[in-house]
Amino acid sequence: MFDKIAVFYMTGTGNSFKVALWFAEIAKSLGLSVSLKQVTITKLETTTDMRTLCVFIFPTHGFTAPILILKQIFFLPKASGTSAVILPTRAGTRVKGFCFPGMEGTAGYLAALLLVLKGYKIRGVLGIDMPSNWTALHWGLSPENVEHIISRAESKVKSFAALILRGDTKFNGIISLMLGLMLAPISLMYLVLAQFVLAKLFFASDKCVGCGVCAQYCPKQAIKMTGQDKKRPYWRYSCDSCMACMNYCPHEAIEVSPLLAVFFYYITTVPFISYLISSWSGYYIGKSWIDLMQYITILITVYLVYLISHQFMRFPLVRTLFSKLTHTRYFRRYQAPGVPFAKPDK
Ligand SMILES: Cc1cc2nc3c(=O)[nH]c(=O)nc-3n(C[C@H](O)[C@H](O)[C@H](O)COP(=O)(O)O)c2cc1C
Ligand code: SF4
Ligand code: SF4
Repeated sequence: MFDKIAVFYMTGTGNSFKVALWFAEIAKSLGLSVSLKQVTITKLETTTDMRTLCVFIFPTHGFTAPILILKQIFFLPKASGTSAVILPTRAGTRVKGFCFPGMEGTAGYLAALLLVLKGYKIRGVLGIDMPSNWTALHWGLSPENVEHIISRAESKVKSFAALILRGDTKFNGIISLMLGLMLAPISLMYLVLAQFVLAKLFFASDKCVGCGVCAQYCPKQAIKMTGQDKKRPYWRYSCDSCMACMNYCPHEAIEVSPLLAVFFYYITTVPFISYLISSWSGYYIGKSWIDLMQYITILITVYLVYLISHQFMRFPLVRTLFSKLTHTRYFRRYQAPGVPFAKPDK
């Protein structure tokens, strides 16, 4: 059926990479040749070879696929019937021995739709529960729970891979898709706004030594090291909140600031543009234009507030204040166990 698989994986903390390795293992055991490619900002090159199966693996973000994946698929060259499968990974959790699935929502089928429009033939979609990596939000799973979730995922991925490589098809996650469609406004909000604001909540605490590992390992090149003597990371809007920097910083120096979140909330909820417009009596522009201007105002405000707070964080006192007032200093970090984290190809 296939001679080769080409695996394209986007990963923050190694979960999707681990899934890619399991898929590759099965393909190799069947004598197929395998290529693995991390999805970064470098343009993706796929194949039009009918005997190659393209495998797309990526984390779920905001009940849908990350912007990076959607963008990369959107700009793929046209194919004519090349086979593809899609495995979104999602946040599995385990509490007191009970496993709870994550929710990939529209992640798998949105990527599938884009691939179909590009001329691919989809042979399967399957959401995979891996340990939740959103360590900005929760304290992380215990090693025992991580191990349990991963062992369940491994057998699921391997039997899916064997089935697809035999020439069968498998489409899971229809209920999740329905829920994802209902939650589409949240996904949209996440993609157009929340993701950008989340990027601006990161800061390097007083544990930062300026080594630059976070910048080197960011798949989006979204971290700029700034400063004269001791450099410090600065998060750009292009960050996809993949969590790689936060979880791979060797000094656990990257935190998320609720102080900045509260500040952003208050400052951006001032309906500045509406006031401005209503003060121009007799002049009317449509609501969608007001919304668009409000959106731009929010992004500019967040950018400026972050820029100013980044400058202030050069002072040890300010850094200490921010560091003490963060919830993430109590949280574990997460890295998928047993996965070598390589510097992304630039
Ligand atoms: C910003 C962000 C948003 C997330 N949103 C979801 C979600 O909507 N549903 C879900 O099941 N998991 C969600 N997750 C969890 C990840 O998709 C999951 O842990 C994934 O396996 C991480 O893979 P990676 O290590 O390859 O990046 C989210 C994680 C992050 C960091
Ligand atoms: S935040 Fe961590 S990885 Fe980044 S420069 Fe500081 S110590 Fe190094
Ligand atoms: S800055 Fe951090 S969270 Fe954002 S894309 Fe880069 S590694 Fe991921």
